[in-house]
Amino acid sequence: MLIHIEDVFVAYGSPPRAVLAGINLEIEEGEFVCVLGQTGCGKSTLLRLILGSEHPMRGRILVDGREHHQPDRTRGYVPQKYSLFPDKTVLDNITFGCEVSEFGLFARLTPAFYRRRKQLRAEAFDYLQRIGLRSCDAKKYPDQLSGGMQQRVAIAQALMTKPRILLMDEAFSALDPGTRRGMQQLVRDLWKATGTTILFVTHNTDEALRLGTRVIVLAKESVDQGSRIAMDLSVPAPCGDEEIPSLVRRLELVSESCAL
Ligand SMILES: Nc1ncnc2c1ncn2[C@@H]1O[C@H](COP(=O)(O)OP(=O)(O)OP(=O)(O)O)[C@@H](O)[C@H]1O
Ligand SMILES: [Mg+2]
Repeated sequence: MLIHIEDVFVAYGSPPRAVLAGINLEIEEGEFVCVLGQTGCGKSTLLRLILGSEHPMRGRILVDGREHHQPDRTRGYVPQKYSLFPDKTVLDNITFGCEVSEFGLFARLTPAFYRRRKQLRAEAFDYLQRIGLRSCDAKKYPDQLSGGMQQRVAIAQALMTKPRILLMDEAFSALDPGTRRGMQQLVRDLWKATGTTILFVTHNTDEALRLGTRVIVLAKESVDQGSRIAMDLSVPAPCGDEEIPSLVRRLELVSESCAL
């Protein structure tokens, strides 16, 4: 079991208001788990707990058998509010994570760093094309890109570090339908090729069913309770156009019955 979430409880504020309560979840290596749920139900919170940037008030989260108290390279993260380094070009934004994790400050003065940097830049160029940007975009700064282009650079940043677990929080929300389909295909192809374990938060039920091997729905049973896992659905692979409408209906019924 790669990710083991045991009876997790999270509350915010004073007095504390429960956001997640009694979350139990086991995720095996190589699963593609899509997370659905109404706004404010705790989807982003769940991702940040797995990332290790937040910690539960009760319960525990084990990744590869142990608790992690901070993010590291094994868990790539595309946050809901992504932010690129404004003073770095697109290419430098994509390579930055690998450069800092592989080389300390002084090691960056050595020939080995420059050799590795050349490799990383070639790889970043490859990702640039795969996310549908052009070579001439490599030298641009984030404020010269559209919101959708910035979002794709943030995705390339996370993919570059080749994490064992990839956490994506509404990663396609700023994309037009055509670009979104292209990015869905890219992520699905990368998942198949690498076996990365993916947790993907989306508000789009159809997208969840087309991408995931499993879909979970977070929902509250009453206003003052935290969200629980209201549904945990294995998605037939590949999920064909015939199955999707009935599965969408099932998921929407659960969401509606829990909508508060
Ligand atoms: N750091 C924080 N401090 C206080 N409250 C927080 C904090 N983070 C999240 N919350 C609250 O916890 C609840 C769940 O937030 P979260 O961002 O996880 O929801 P979500 O399901 O991702 O929503 P959305 O679909 O709108 O992105 C919200 O009511 C939010 O206001
Ligand atoms: Mg969110």
